[in-house]
Amino acid sequence: MKIAMIGTGYVGLTSGACFALIGHNVICVDKDEHKIHNLNKGKIPFFEPKLSQIIKSNIKNGRLQFTNDINQAIKQSNIIFIAVGTPPKASGELDLSDIKDVARVISFNLNNYKVIVEKSTVPVRTYEKIKMIIDKNNKHKIKYDVASNPEFLREGNAVNDFLYPDRIIIGTENKRAQKLLNKLYQPIKSPILNTDIESAELIKHASNAFLSMKISFINTISIICELTNASIKKVAQGIGLDRRIGSDFLNAGVGYGGSCLPKDLQSFIQIADKLGYDYKLLKEVAYINQAQKERFVNKIKKVLGRLQEKQLGILGLSFKPNTDDMRFAPSIDIIKMLKKHGAKIKAYDPHAMNNAQRIMPDIEYCQNPYDVAKASDALILITEWKEFRNLNLSKIKKLLKKPIVIDGRNIFEPNKMKQIGFNYQSIGQ
Ligand code: UDX
Repeated sequence: MKIAMIGTGYVGLTSGACFALIGHNVICVDKDEHKIHNLNKGKIPFFEPKLSQIIKSNIKNGRLQFTNDINQAIKQSNIIFIAVGTPPKASGELDLSDIKDVARVISFNLNNYKVIVEKSTVPVRTYEKIKMIIDKNNKHKIKYDVASNPEFLREGNAVNDFLYPDRIIIGTENKRAQKLLNKLYQPIKSPILNTDIESAELIKHASNAFLSMKISFINTISIICELTNASIKKVAQGIGLDRRIGSDFLNAGVGYGGSCLPKDLQSFIQIADKLGYDYKLLKEVAYINQAQKERFVNKIKKVLGRLQEKQLGILGLSFKPNTDDMRFAPSIDIIKMLKKHGAKIKAYDPHAMNNAQRIMPDIEYCQNPYDVAKASDALILITEWKEFRNLNLSKIKKLLKKPIVIDGRNIFEPNKMKQIGFNYQSIGQ
């Protein structure tokens, strides 16, 4: 099938490339000419495993193109995905201006039946806004349908999440659109849940809200573990063995970040507010997440005493491993608080330092974990990159001014750290 993917961010680019990979003809559109120029050379603007080679091979076989010409792309496609950004406003509400702009451009280019699909995360009932905009300009009353097909891609695992999803959600208003979108996903062997559009839009917000709640829940359990000398790893393992709970997303740490969970939670709270429901549960989930970062800073202060003039070495800046994305990364708030207490910061991250430097230009960046440890008063782990699990800990100990390790993601083994002679602090252990 012929697909136009409007927007080449994390979601649009991964989805467009993978639709080409499974056999469709895809034209990805972005207004950023420089970005399109690089994409046509297979150069992607962010780190996502496997994506670059999928893009290169599908440019070569002619199934994947990149263009700034949105009009042409819409005209020659029968399925139009809207995958543009929905950034949060200061109020937490999502800014839908890009979505509305695209809907307007689509209405000017309706030359035959098309299905217009919301791929971006949008507030429930956004599809009505899209229809209103299109109907206003659809002079020749060309037949079209709107649909919702939310994505559940995790950064750093996005290609696998697209090709092997737990489920595909397709929200439509009629059988014609539903059949077309079911056919589109035919090559992917995963259950398809066909719903009305509102339910599909809501499933996305509800999923992310539940995942955030699960993380905040285990983070509160880690607090109880610290107060009762229990082990959060054992408790998480014990509850996770219950199939109704499941062990995923039960890793206690410094809190969740990323471009989705924090933003979607706030916008869901806003949406509920507008609908007349005060979503206290989700407000508490967000509060716990913020408090978890503050607790972590207090833990550092407790171990080190005054932070004034202390040299702190930070390992990991991205919001999670296997991505260079710094959006809402816990490291940003944590480093801000540490600097406010007068600490000097050295940091290393395998992929995110370029992005981090734009947000935190005034900390020292090192080229490897050992330079971070050199002459530091403590080593603080914020993002659990795999390479940090194989550090030469005896070397780290020699390099540190004091043998203090504060582990925000529980990647080290407490007894082993104590045997090596570290004053080892972690979350809920
Ligand atoms: C998330 C959702 O998982 C995905 O379905 C949705 O489409 C987009 O948002 P992503 O933000 O890429 O994906 O990352 P995810 O793997 O969900 O992690 C989000 C944050 O939660 C990270 O900061 C991670 O460190 C944190 N996290 C995750 C925990 O603190 N504990 C966990 O057990 C799992």
